[in-house]
Amino acid sequence: MEGRMSFPPFKPWKGCPQPPCPLSFLFFCIFSVDCGFAGVSDYTDANTGVKYTGDRQFINTGENEIVSSNGFARRYGTLRSFPNGTRNCYKMSPVLSGSKYVIRAGFLYGNYDSQGFPPVFDLHIGNNFWTTVTTLSDDSVFSEIITVSRGVLIQVCLVNTGKGTPFISVLELRPLLDSMYPLVNTSQSLVNHLRWNYGMANQLRYPYDPFDRLWDGVANNFFTLNTSSEVMAKEGDAFQVPSLVLRSAVSESRTNYHLDTWLKIGTFGDKIYIVMHFAELQKLNSANESRRLNIYGKDGTVLLFPEYSPPYLTVDHKEIVTDELPRSRFYNISIKSTRSSTYSYIINAFESFIVRSMNESQTDDRDVAAIEDIKSALRLVKNWEGDPCSPKEYIWEGVNCANSEDSTSLRIISLNLSSSGLQGQIPSSIGNLTALTMLDLSDNNLTGPIPDIFGELSSLRFINLSGSEALGVIPQNLCKKISKGALSLRFHGINIYIILGVSDKQNKSGSTIEGNVQKREGVQFTYAEITQITHNFQHEIGKGGFGIVYLGSLKDGTMVAVKVLSSSSSQGSKEFEAEVLLLARVHHKNLVNLLGYCDDMQHLSLVYEYMDNGTLRDHLSGKILNGDILNWNQRVNIALQAAQGLDYLHSGCTPPIVHRDIKSNNILLNRELVAKISDFGLSRSFNNDYATHISTRLAGTPGYLDPEYYKNYRLNEKSDVYSFGIVLLEIMTGQPPHQNTIEKTHIVRWVHSLVQSGDIINIIDSRLQGYFDINRAWKIIEVAMSCTSTTSEERMTMSEVVMELKQCLNINELQIEFEDTKSSIQYSSGTITSGLSTSRAPLAR
Ligand SMILES: *[C@@H]1O[C@H](CO)[C@@H](O)[C@H](O)[C@H]1NC(C)=O
Ligand SMILES: *[C@@H]1O[C@H](CO)[C@@H](O)[C@H](O)[C@H]1NC(C)=O
Ligand SMILES: *[C@@H]1O[C@H](CO)[C@@H](O)[C@H](O)[C@H]1NC(C)=O
Ligand SMILES: *[C@@H]1O[C@H](CO)[C@@H](O)[C@H](O)[C@H]1NC(C)=O
Ligand SMILES: *[C@@H]1O[C@H](CO)[C@@H](O)[C@H](O)[C@H]1NC(C)=O
Ligand SMILES: *[C@@H]1O[C@H](CO)[C@@H](O)[C@H](O)[C@H]1NC(C)=O
Ligand SMILES: *[C@@H]1O[C@H](CO)[C@@H](O)[C@H](O)[C@H]1NC(C)=O
Ligand SMILES: *[C@@H]1O[C@H](CO)[C@@H](O)[C@H](O)[C@H]1NC(C)=O
Ligand SMILES: *[C@@H]1O[C@H](CO)[C@@H](O)[C@H](O)[C@H]1NC(C)=O
Ligand SMILES: *[C@@H]1O[C@H](CO)[C@@H](O)[C@H](O)[C@H]1NC(C)=O
Ligand SMILES: *[C@@H]1O[C@H](CO)[C@@H](O)[C@H](O)[C@H]1NC(C)=O
Ligand SMILES: *[C@@H]1O[C@H](CO)[C@@H](O)[C@H](O)[C@H]1NC(C)=O
Repeated sequence: MEGRMSFPPFKPWKGCPQPPCPLSFLFFCIFSVDCGFAGVSDYTDANTGVKYTGDRQFINTGENEIVSSNGFARRYGTLRSFPNGTRNCYKMSPVLSGSKYVIRAGFLYGNYDSQGFPPVFDLHIGNNFWTTVTTLSDDSVFSEIITVSRGVLIQVCLVNTGKGTPFISVLELRPLLDSMYPLVNTSQSLVNHLRWNYGMANQLRYPYDPFDRLWDGVANNFFTLNTSSEVMAKEGDAFQVPSLVLRSAVSESRTNYHLDTWLKIGTFGDKIYIVMHFAELQKLNSANESRRLNIYGKDGTVLLFPEYSPPYLTVDHKEIVTDELPRSRFYNISIKSTRSSTYSYIINAFESFIVRSMNESQTDDRDVAAIEDIKSALRLVKNWEGDPCSPKEYIWEGVNCANSEDSTSLRIISLNLSSSGLQGQIPSSIGNLTALTMLDLSDNNLTGPIPDIFGELSSLRFINLSGSEALGVIPQNLCKKISKGALSLRFHGINIYIILGVSDKQNKSGSTIEGNVQKREGVQFTYAEITQITHNFQHEIGKGGFGIVYLGSLKDGTMVAVKVLSSSSSQGSKEFEAEVLLLARVHHKNLVNLLGYCDDMQHLSLVYEYMDNGTLRDHLSGKILNGDILNWNQRVNIALQAAQGLDYLHSGCTPPIVHRDIKSNNILLNRELVAKISDFGLSRSFNNDYATHISTRLAGTPGYLDPEYYKNYRLNEKSDVYSFGIVLLEIMTGQPPHQNTIEKTHIVRWVHSLVQSGDIINIIDSRLQGYFDINRAWKIIEVAMSCTSTTSEERMTMSEVVMELKQCLNINELQIEFEDTKSSIQYSSGTITSGLSTSRAPLAR
């Protein structure tokens, strides 16, 4: 079946030779599927020459079973059963969109499950009901439908209705000419009931019928007529009955006999479509011979076609579309010759169908494409089969839909994949669900960027991304949308609100992240509230170029640090904006959390989570009054955490963010001694297109400044790497960047000279009293030396730094227990007591 992936736009079967000719030459979009057949290669049915394939490429649910099928064709020897999920669908693709197809499904139960209980279930074509299948214990059954494909895919679905496990043995799909069965269109299909070939004993199908319809022979107890002449059809005939079928007929030798046919069919209220095919097979002498028929319908007495004479060796059709069936479900037909007719009735072939309206709305094609992409990208193991939205009873779990604006289709309006064990990136195809209003991806483990396209979904009002700690930044478009109040985003355990009020120079832009401890109204604090939170600016805990940092507490007792911009600082207001905008977008466990802000008149303040254990600098310098110096493991942990925070800014954010002021004073420690990077006032975000950026103003702190940047004002991520290298040296040595010696030797030069002489012992902080692993110490010093290389090309990336530090940590973990024991012994001597909160270090300056 190779080569079906593309097909020419013309109708390939036009002008085909008369049968028999190979089906595969006649049709491109044919499918002959032996369900449950797991063989590698196709095989050819000896009777028809049709090639059957296994079904793996059409379905990925269900289980293969083997049936004892003596006396049945090979294709009935296996089946696929569907114990799981209410709806399971075969996806037949590609087909020509808008073309007519005969689809036939065959079932042989054969007690494959040893339950002795042949199941009853429903078949759907796409999202529309096709038929209810009642399988038999010892015989095969099949159902056939003529339908128009609505796209390049036809779905055949088996629906469990609680009467046993659905299964299928064979699935066949054959194209028809578009001129055939004109009753069939996109909103109407025909489910075949009978297809009789009168006057012949055997069933006839392909290759005699190029469309591979099954014509059952009806000859027993009848007077049969046949001819060896061809029976002609008019150009564009709507039924294309094979000549061989038409060349035989049933009749009577005596004129007073008539043909009564009664159909018990469908269900109450169904409409029936009947087509009778006629051709006169006897050459009549027009002088004294005639065949004139009255054809009756309904209960067999309503005259529908009076005085009808079939044409000689030319096919003709009489069609009946019935009213809705009565409760008895009978429709009776009677064909009688008129009094003057010299010959009895004749009929060559007969077809009856149930008219099925295909009126279920379908999900919008683009939504289907998007959700299928989401399903495969996230490798969802949900029973997501068939149309996502329709019919209502089988709507996909986690999906909700509504009518499109023009009511021609259904749109996906919400998607809830909460707690679905999702991993990997958020598929950007979610952005193709343009009618989406709600997206819940909470309680998963997603990573990578948040697609910016979410910001363009005009109806989207709510996103929950809680639980995926490794997700990237909130992208710009989304940020804007949140700031307009058009969207609420839950992210990293907090509700995120952003307020951007800039359009003229007077108005400050700002953003707010509201902690889950606060109410929506508390987003933007008023000056009065800031006064209250800081207890009238009572506890000053830090000071910087920006302003003063105060300790504060929210109504619920949560401790916060409030950074207040001094009114004189004009530079500060720019940095305020930069910081607020950045922190609103950037979230990581190793970056300090912004909880709120105040932009009330001239009072600009930022409210942060309070970092109990102050700055790394203060810990290293021993300024923290309890004198408890950081042990080796704590130092490596802090270094790694800070590196991760910085790596996130560099590689987790698009465009990357350069912090520009990495120093031990900007690395804060919380109660659990987790390190977080703070002070984003100088940070810049650069487009990837620019490898470097010419900065107009030298920023940063002496001692940490990248010499390359200092020289040529070229700023990139590697400038942060340099500063981080300095911090790493501080952590290892316990010394500040500039030695407080008369020569004011810079730490890099100082360490470098000791490295040259291989003197690691004198590099590492003497207060550690030798409690460290020399090999790891060397490794970290090497990393620090690489970070502080004079030229940026020679420096590692932060990702590489993180990798190296992780290795140091893994080995060190073995020593944790020992060292902790050691430190508890050391400090149990009672000389040192823990300091109170008054001694706590500032959060930021
Ligand atoms: C069907 O569900 C059963 C248990 O519920 C499970 O063991 C089996 O693997 C599932 N089969 C398929 C094909 O998903
Ligand atoms: C399909 O055919 C039916 C009956 O001939 C007609 O009522 C209906 O409008 C048609 N639908 C389309 C979409 O053409
Ligand atoms: C065709 O009709 C002739 C006699 O009219 C009969 O002998 C022959 O068996 C028929 N063939 C078939 C295939 O019914
Ligand atoms: C009609 O006439 C022809 C001869 O003219 C004769 O052979 C034939 O049997 C007649 N048919 C009937 C039905 O009387
Ligand atoms: C059709 O024929 C059947 C069998 O002869 C009969 O039982 C039934 O009542 C008839 N139905 C109608 C509607 O006449
Ligand atoms: C579809 O048509 C059937 C029969 O004509 C009707 O009973 C059903 O309510 C229709 N469904 C929709 C969704 O229009
Ligand atoms: C999403 O939409 C774009 C633009 O319409 C299209 O190119 C792309 O193929 C769509 N992706 C999916 C998975 O539907
Ligand atoms: C998503 O589904 C979960 C249960 O599967 C439910 O708890 C949660 O409330 C749903 N989310 C929304 C936003 O409705
Ligand atoms: C978002 O998801 C988390 C985790 O499932 C849940 O705790 C939280 O209530 C959700 N938020 C909203 C607003 O639904
Ligand atoms: C989340 O995924 C990351 C990377 O795949 C993995 O390291 C981590 O253990 C996962 N977390 C959970 C809670 O599954
Ligand atoms: C700017 O702020 C002033 C007062 O704070 C306000 O009246 C004005 O409408 C604001 N302008 C814009 C564009 O928001
Ligand atoms: C600070 O760090 C120390 C360890 O050095 C720890 O014992 C303490 O709980 C942390 N928190 C506070 C508030 O001191």
